[in-house]
Formats: sequence, structure tokens, C-alpha cells
Amino acid sequence: DNRMPIPQPKTYGVLGNIPLIDKDSPTLSFCKLADEYGPIFRFEGFGRSVLIVSGPDLVADVCDESRFDKGIGHILKVRDFAGDGLFTSLTEEPNWKKAHHILMPAFSQQAMKGYHGMMLDIALQLVQKWARLNPDESIDVPEDMTRLTLDTIGLCGFNYRFNSYYRETPNPFIVSMVRALDEAMHYGNRLPIQNKLMIKTKRQYERDIQSMFSVVDKIIADRKASGDQGETDLLSRMLHAKDPETGERLDDENIRYQIITFLIAGHETTSGLLSFATYFLLKHPDALKKAYAEVDEVLTDPLPTYEQVLKLKYIRMILNEALRLWPTAPQFNLFAKEDTRIGGKYPIAKGEGVSVLIPQLHRDKGVWGADAEQFRPERFEDPSQVPNYAYKPFGNGQRACIGMQFALHEATLVLGMILKQFQLVDAMNYQLKVKQTLTLKPDGFKIRVQLRDKNN
Ligand code: HEM
Repeated sequence: DNRMPIPQPKTYGVLGNIPLIDKDSPTLSFCKLADEYGPIFRFEGFGRSVLIVSGPDLVADVCDESRFDKGIGHILKVRDFAGDGLFTSLTEEPNWKKAHHILMPAFSQQAMKGYHGMMLDIALQLVQKWARLNPDESIDVPEDMTRLTLDTIGLCGFNYRFNSYYRETPNPFIVSMVRALDEAMHYGNRLPIQNKLMIKTKRQYERDIQSMFSVVDKIIADRKASGDQGETDLLSRMLHAKDPETGERLDDENIRYQIITFLIAGHETTSGLLSFATYFLLKHPDALKKAYAEVDEVLTDPLPTYEQVLKLKYIRMILNEALRLWPTAPQFNLFAKEDTRIGGKYPIAKGEGVSVLIPQLHRDKGVWGADAEQFRPERFEDPSQVPNYAYKPFGNGQRACIGMQFALHEATLVLGMILKQFQLVDAMNYQLKVKQTLTLKPDGFKIRVQLRDKNN
């Protein structure tokens, strides 16, 4: 028998391993622990235990869908407002499969053609804002990227304009959403008695959820009242399309959960990606030069077309590489469907939880080479050479990200448009500091821009 014990960091009584984690950046804390304890270790807190896995062979093993399925223990509290929407449902819940069938076609590469014009509308707002700044004004990159991605999913999702470029502070809906998410993520790391005592926090949380529900329910009701029959955006698709397997439509409550889900899943992740990509370009002049050459060659019309976006191969490689080094949704969780072993030697019991630590996986030197820590988009030049089993920025299998094509089309379009117009200026000599909410972002990242044609 080659069974191996699973390492575990030191524990602190009832708190287990929790004191080892910086609650404002759990993923980075897990990465540090992985440096110390290796490609698999056990993490315990409040009687729950999870295996943190980052070795490529072990990850390949837990990505075997016949033995492991998506776990939602870590995001259980998010169900208070995302319900049995796609992201927070178990695979066996009837609404997961139903919504998966109904929504897959709306997120295909082909479907991006239909969203391209709306994505362009919002991207133009960003470019025009930047073009009108005075030379000494700086841009908070993550903030402006979040305006972009939120407005894009609002418009493509349900023909709603958040108009974030016309506001200084986030839309009230987003304030509620971010605060509720923050509370949902911190809730599980407190003792039950602590949670009981936090009466104000709890009230705020309940108010935030109610206000999200009322905004979304109104959007749904208005659309129904308008008598729309088309399938132009995600909402009309959700209202009208039938699941080919059951012949059923989604109910209104589930549509509400899906809309909230798209707003959560669809905006912070993509804005983080765009922010990290901008950061890397700023710090890598060679890659930036190649990117400029590509946009000058491909984007020859005043406005990029759908087909031109598909031709921005190097921009795509930049985004892929940014997602390798800083996967903005940095962990996904699974549970064992049966008693089994990981890597042939680590026993795991039916029902036990596993969390895949993506940034650590993506920097494995055995797979990615001695320069794994370096930003080098050329790794993605030849798709047949990409070690896909060690590249999981969008998760795994049937529970992988449904919005991947959406995110990549949007990000490629906007990065292409930015580079076509602007020279990026690292006016503050920014030093990377990664901040975690549910997702990762470069904290306090500011740049300046100059119009390129003035300098050429
Ligand atoms: C799921 C990453 C953009 C909607 C996921 C998962 C990851 C991920 C890792 C799997 C989560 C898990 O297993 O628990 C990302 C990244 C994005 C991005 C890195 C951008 C760069 C988007 C966008 C949308 C979206 C734009 C929607 C418009 C979803 C949904 C799921 C999901 C609905 C759940 C799918 C299911 O289980 O059926 N995403 N995502 N994501 N994502 Fe994304």
C-alpha cells in the first residue's frame, strides 16, 4: 500500500488553520502555504476540512468528472442572493442543467456576433473618456475597467444601461452587490456567535439583498410587460427559450438568480483581467511593441469589426498569459463523488472537499518551465503546445465558465481599441499589489495616457 499522509499546517484549537489566512487575501495566503507544504495540504477551520491542491498531476486527477463534481460549500452564503443560478447550484439540481441547456447557445463564439455592437458601444465610452483627459490626469485602471465590464453585461444581458461612465461612484445596485458579496465571503470565517452578534451587518445584508431583488424583478417585469418576443439579449432568451430535454422554461425566480449571477460572475473577473493585462504591457515594452504592431495592422477601420477582433491573435495571447499569472477567479472547489485517491496515493473520502489553487498551478516550473514567473505571451503562440491540464483560468469540464467567449471577445476588443489610440504612461511607477475580493485585482493601479498619433 503506497498511501501517503496529507500534510497540514499547524492548527489553533477550534479555529483550526484559519489564523494562517489573511482574510483580505485568502488565495495569496494559500499560495504561501503551498510553497511551504507542497502540492497538496489539508486546511481546517470550524470543523470543516478542505484539501488545497495545486500540483499539475493532482489537479488533472481532481478534474476527472467521473470522480469529482463541483462543490459549493465555500459559496453557500452567496446562494442567499444567487440562489440556484448557474454559478451557485449543484450539478444535480434540476435548474443547473435546465439553465445550462438554455443558455449555452447564448454564450457560443457564434453568439458573440450579436453582442459585438453593444460591446463596441461601451468600449467607445471608455476610449472617449480617456481621450478627453488632460495630460496630467491619471486613470484608475481597475475602476474604469469595472465600469466597462459592468455596463457591457448590463447591455448585452438585459438591455439595461448602468451608465457607469456618467457617475463618480458605483451604481447603488453594485454597492449592494459588492457589500453583500463581501459579507457572504467573510461570514463563513467567523464563529457562529460572532455572526449572531453582528446585528447591524446582518440588517445591512438583508437590505442589500432586498434592494438587488427589487431592481432585478422590475427589469424582468418591465420586459414581460413590453411583450418582447425576440432573442436579442440574454433576458429574452431566458424568458422564451425552452430546455430541449424537458421542454420547460426557466421560472421568474430562477431568471432573477441568473441575472444576479451574470452581474457577479461577469464583471469583476473580466475587469481584473483587463487591469492585469494593462499592467503587464506597461512593464513589458517588447510585448507592448508587438501589440501595437498588431492593432495597427488589423484595426484599419474607424471601428473594429467582429472579424477583426478574431484576428487580434497577439492580444489574445497577452490575455491568456495575464490569466495564467493572475487568474482573476483564483480557486474552484470540488468534492469526491466516491472514496478514491488523488495522485494514486492520497486517500480522499466520499464527500470530502478539494480546492484547486489556480495561481500556484499556473506557475508550476515543471510544466511551464524555469521562466514560469515571467510574463511571456509567446507561450500561447502554438495552441497545440499549451499544457491545458495545467491551465484552468475558466475552471473545469461542464462546470467551467459559460462566459469565457464573452469575456475574451470583450477584453480583446477593448484592449485592441485602447492600444490603437493610446500610448500608456507609467506615471507613478506602479508596483504591483494584488487585492482580493471574490476576485483578484491590481490594487491602486493608475496610469496616464497620451494619444498615439500626436507622438508618431
Ligand atoms: C464559472 C472564471 C467571466 C459567468 C466560472 C468558473 C471560473 C470562471 C473559474 C468556475 C467556477 C467554479 O467551478 O466554481 C471566469 C473568468 C472570467 C469570467 C476568469 C473573465 C476573465 C465570466 C463572464 C460571465 C461568466 C463574462 C457571464 C457573462 C459564469 C457562470 C459560471 C462561471 C454563469 C458558472 C457556470 C456553471 O457552473 O454552469 N467562471 N469567468 N463568467 N462563470 Fe465565469
